[in-house]
Amino acid sequence: MTAQTPAPPVRQTIVQLLSQMRDGKEIREYLHRFSGVDQERFAVIKVGGAVIQDDLAGLASALAFLQTVGLTPVVVHGGGPQLDTALDAAGIATERVNGLRVTRQNAIPVIRDTLTEANLTLVDAIRNAGGRAAAVPRGVFEAKLLDEAILGRVGEPSRVRLDLVAAAARAGQAAILACLGETEDGCLVNINADVAVRALVHALQPYKVVFLTGTGGLLDEWGDILSSINLATDFDELMRAEWVNGGMRLKLEEIKRLLDDLPLSSSVSITRPSELARELFTHAGAGTLIRRGERIQSAGSKDGLDLAKLDGLVTKAFGRKPVAGYWDSLVVDRAFVTDSYRAAAIATRLDDWIYLDKFAVLDDARGEGLGRAVWHRLVDYAPRLIWRSRTSNPVNGFYFDECDGAVRRDEWTVFWRGEDIALSDMHAVVERAFALPPTLEAPQ
Ligand code: ARG
Repeated sequence: MTAQTPAPPVRQTIVQLLSQMRDGKEIREYLHRFSGVDQERFAVIKVGGAVIQDDLAGLASALAFLQTVGLTPVVVHGGGPQLDTALDAAGIATERVNGLRVTRQNAIPVIRDTLTEANLTLVDAIRNAGGRAAAVPRGVFEAKLLDEAILGRVGEPSRVRLDLVAAAARAGQAAILACLGETEDGCLVNINADVAVRALVHALQPYKVVFLTGTGGLLDEWGDILSSINLATDFDELMRAEWVNGGMRLKLEEIKRLLDDLPLSSSVSITRPSELARELFTHAGAGTLIRRGERIQSAGSKDGLDLAKLDGLVTKAFGRKPVAGYWDSLVVDRAFVTDSYRAAAIATRLDDWIYLDKFAVLDDARGEGLGRAVWHRLVDYAPRLIWRSRTSNPVNGFYFDECDGAVRRDEWTVFWRGEDIALSDMHAVVERAFALPPTLEAPQ
């Protein structure tokens, strides 16, 4: 043995996180936001048994990192694979009805011991990673048996005792809960982890609900992680989509159910342990963010628009004010604005083209996917679209991805979308776009 202590994994996480960020502004902003809620209400984090089994070190380091920055989430873990193995070893066959584990009396001691062991394994690992965690394997969920004849000792929470959770938070510890419930008279029952999470979320009303999984998010039809889902605009479409399989449909329904029960400001994130810090402390995140979300209003003139709010949005998004008289002379062809006025697209006319005059999205709205949602509405409305952007605009990467053609000249780039357009047909309108007077005050 050497006297040298290894660099704690927590430090690695912080270094990793900071190296991924352009500056500390985002992390400070989110830290401020997360610290502003009562600590037991900051986040409920659900961890599947498979993650404890396959990625214990990563999980422990991610959870320990949160205490390092003063946050105390409430963690609920399952133990599916561990239970399968233990019950198998005890000669008890695993049987499921509607996704619930049928639990006969003889399985209860095995379940109790296995979940308690998983609980302690996780608590120890968090402590070894430099975090503070309180083992709460039972005592939180009071439960009623669901249907003893069919399911055996499977319960549904009838009461959630928050005092243990609150005490841990007061002591600066993350409470680590297993899904063991007790009937009113103190007999142990097995509770499905998703059902336990729902009851806890209902009782706590947390700001964030996080699912830590091996896949790190919900996957789109090409197997890439979907960055954000706004249920108000996306839910029906996703539920209809052919590529959304049964498992994902159930997950989406479960998450919608969770969010319907929470304030609008709350959100669900699905990510993997190694990405937890990036998901929580950056706008862009790393995983899938799901919100109840807001709708996008469409207006055909200035009448339906709150111009003061739009002015605030544009000023904040670009860091510059519109030039004097801008709103007065604006002739709106079509505008798309989210309920909160945190993302908007304003289109006017340029000859016979639809001209995107302003596309303004606040940073946090970008994290929620609102910018993209507005963009989709816009391009559905205007399959042929032209716009311009300062060459220094950080959004240009997105514009280059989205456009069918672009011309760059000095400080401006003009972009357009539309099928079957010859470059020669673009000449006149592109020149018109270059020649438009600036609509925002000059950059400092
Ligand atoms: N950090 C913010 C949050 O946790 C935004 C996360 C954005 N994540 C994403 N996958 N789009 O609420």
